[in-house]
Amino acid sequence: MNAIGKAPAAAAATAAGQTVTPWLTVVLAVILLSGALFGYDQGVISGALHGIKATFSLSALLVEVVTSWVTLGALFGALAGGELADRLGRKRAVLIAGVVFTAGSLIEALAPDTLILVGGRLIVGAGVGVAAVAAPLYAAELAPSALRGRFISAYQLAVAGGIFIAYLVDGWLSKDDAWRWMLGLSAAPGLMLVAVALVTPQSPRWLMRMGRRTDAAAQMRKIRPDTDPSPGLDTIAAVLGQEKGRASWGEVFGKKWRRPLLVGVGLAVFQQITGINAIIYYADQIFAAAGFATQSSQTTVTTWAVGGVNVGATLIAIAFIDRLGRRKLLLAGLLGMGLSLAVVGAAFVFMTTATVAHPAATSTAGTVTLAALVVFIACFAFSMGPVVWTVINEIFPGHIRGRAVAVATAFNWASAFVVSQVFLSLIGAIGNSFTFWLFALFCSLGWAFVFYRVPETKGRSLEQIQQIWKTKGA
Ligand code: BGC
Repeated sequence: MNAIGKAPAAAAATAAGQTVTPWLTVVLAVILLSGALFGYDQGVISGALHGIKATFSLSALLVEVVTSWVTLGALFGALAGGELADRLGRKRAVLIAGVVFTAGSLIEALAPDTLILVGGRLIVGAGVGVAAVAAPLYAAELAPSALRGRFISAYQLAVAGGIFIAYLVDGWLSKDDAWRWMLGLSAAPGLMLVAVALVTPQSPRWLMRMGRRTDAAAQMRKIRPDTDPSPGLDTIAAVLGQEKGRASWGEVFGKKWRRPLLVGVGLAVFQQITGINAIIYYADQIFAAAGFATQSSQTTVTTWAVGGVNVGATLIAIAFIDRLGRRKLLLAGLLGMGLSLAVVGAAFVFMTTATVAHPAATSTAGTVTLAALVVFIACFAFSMGPVVWTVINEIFPGHIRGRAVAVATAFNWASAFVVSQVFLSLIGAIGNSFTFWLFALFCSLGWAFVFYRVPETKGRSLEQIQQIWKTKGA
């Protein structure tokens, strides 16, 4: 392993006695609700589109706009989210995200025409984008270091849970094409997020940065009544003393922090270009091509093989991320993702040949595709899903954290937007097999990137992680 893979000897000591107190449970609720909004929104549209098309007789272009502009809204929301989280604090940024999201979902549900529906989609996206930056940031700053990986992975668990619930709601309401209910129902967790964000503690790290040590100490005592806040606050103060206040955009993109920025943006981009959302969005169509003939068989297989497995395997990450570390999970996951995509590509070659020669063989190839996609989703869910968000939120020093996390998150949404736009055209241009092999190639590039560039952050405090970038060769 290279130098950046080694965890410090002191790391184990920080693991002792770090328990989840009642206020940390409230912090966890903020994270879970924010993730659920993100996931529900990713998952729900596939089932709602049919009814929307019938109500507004949308052109093909408008179908694409209704589907994807939420991602555009999220891209801008993510950039704004960093500013809000730095200026107003992490807690208030989450609160704003909840209000914006709830308003957007109600606008969508009540939209009298396409223009207002698209406006609602953009507003929902903006709320999701702000939450996607502010909530993991909040989790990273509030969680005890020995549980930090689990806290941020809980966010991913909620994203996966949100997608799964959306698939179930879609299945339940699709008989009546009740798209207004499908979209509007997400106002309920939105309102719950607002309620929880009103009472949740503020981030002591952000308060310290604002020069409010007494308030920071009060929040620390609230979160960890069993611990004297002074040593922790002294460490934060010492690190803050070396910084020149909040960084400019020039510093965020400057030479000094190029390495962590490359790691954050690289992971964000690899998370998307290895194909997860092509499968989340277009699972039905992939399964149709793989021989699942009826709409109901496609919906069932998508709900359980994609949605259910995604939730289940995220639990593996939660169990192991703080024990095995980030790198091992990423490397194992990318290997499994790459191999399973290679198998999907091969199964499609076989299907094309088999359909002509022996139609019965198609079902074998369909079963292989299904099994390989289950492996892919499982490998993503214990690695690139949760671990990417964890590392992005750990690696930056406090004074650039808000802006840098926002940049990485915006790259993530931009890549998601590009993949969802080009996936179907790519299949048209180079065929199913080469499309999946391309994703497999990106998995191998991602593996090399993680191996050479991503440091192990397990068990280190955020302040210790910052020191990594000061050592040569990291
Ligand atoms: C990704 C999403 C994806 C989801 C699937 C998240 O980590 O950022 O784009 O849809 O995982 O569970």
